[in-house]
Amino acid sequence: MLKGKRILLIIGGGVAAYKALDLARRLMERGASVRGVLTAGGQEFITPLSVASLTGDECYTDLFSLKDEAEMGHIRLSREADLILIAPATADLMSKMANGIANDLASTILLATDKPVMIAPAMNAQMWDHPATKRNLETLRGDGIHVVQPGDGMLACGEVGPGRLAEVMDMVAAVEDFFGGDNLLLSGKRAVVTAGPTHEPIDPVRYIANRSSGRQGFEVAAALSRLGADVTLVAGPCVQETPAGVTRVDVETAREMEAAVNAALPADIAVCVAAVADWHVKNGGAQKLKKSKDGTPSFEFGENPDILKGLSGLKKGRPALVVGFAAETENVIGHATEKRARKGCDLIVANDVSSATGIMGGEYNEIHLISAVGAESWPKMEKGAVADRLALKIAEILKG
Ligand code: C5P
Repeated sequence: MLKGKRILLIIGGGVAAYKALDLARRLMERGASVRGVLTAGGQEFITPLSVASLTGDECYTDLFSLKDEAEMGHIRLSREADLILIAPATADLMSKMANGIANDLASTILLATDKPVMIAPAMNAQMWDHPATKRNLETLRGDGIHVVQPGDGMLACGEVGPGRLAEVMDMVAAVEDFFGGDNLLLSGKRAVVTAGPTHEPIDPVRYIANRSSGRQGFEVAAALSRLGADVTLVAGPCVQETPAGVTRVDVETAREMEAAVNAALPADIAVCVAAVADWHVKNGGAQKLKKSKDGTPSFEFGENPDILKGLSGLKKGRPALVVGFAAETENVIGHATEKRARKGCDLIVANDVSSATGIMGGEYNEIHLISAVGAESWPKMEKGAVADRLALKIAEILKG
């Protein structure tokens, strides 16, 4: 999503400075390159070394450093970025920006730049509410500066109120929104995504299910939608919120899921993330089954449709790109390669879900992308970042 975007991250002095490290990491996971500038105040909270280690680039601190200026002058720093992001932006830095003061590296860069600037303010609630800060904020908005609103809550000083640095993922979303216009790589494409578990009824009150949370599938739907695709998400029973702009169809059983997927065709892209039950109960009860002295019930199972295989094998109207997921517990690449051939899909996203990995139900995923030409292994990333990277890959393949 942020592939190739260069972000100059100015870190001001505030307890929340430590969050800028996580912010840098999240932006980089999404493909951005991040270069850090740390103010004198910022250095009271975090070190240039931690910024440099994380970004893999020098961390710039001093306007009058002969070495820094010789290597990368402040004018170049201010110009070699697609966005300048200030997090946390202190009341002092906002005041300097609003008044055109340039007396250190950060403020000089900000006065010299011709690039878009975004601030994420963080300060004490009284400072945030002070008329001077309000005037400065208005001036900055008038100057075209983008603002990520601070949150409300317990502040580091012990007071409660507005002024908390926005959550890291909200800052990431603001940056993504900012670049969104350039990134509608899938506009005009239709996508169908399956997600979540299925429930296979035994009787009107009992069912067979699995532990899928639906999280990764919902992230994939959101990522495709962010790239401009028209997405139908066919979801088994799960509590995830519907991503913005996505059409959601709720289903319970595998057979309902298959019908909903077919109803969403034609599509250019199909991504089957759902953990579909392999079997349904053929002789379940039309009424709630009762205990009886004749013993325990015996169930007969019927095979469920394989939605992924069905889509991949369509003679007419096959989506141009069909993607499956494979959760394995050993020999991940080997089993997934075999699965790709058996299902007839174009790509398989394979991961190791053995319990030691913590992937099943967790926030992170570590995947191997299996295509006709082999396997590509991605580093461990948040499920949202995996989805963004997969969506970009899909866009790249469809472009040819
Ligand atoms: O065969 P297995 O369940 O391991 O395959 C996983 C892949 O196949 C996933 O992409 C899943 O969504 C899809 N699948 C399906 N319909 C089924 C079983 C699996 O679409 N009945």
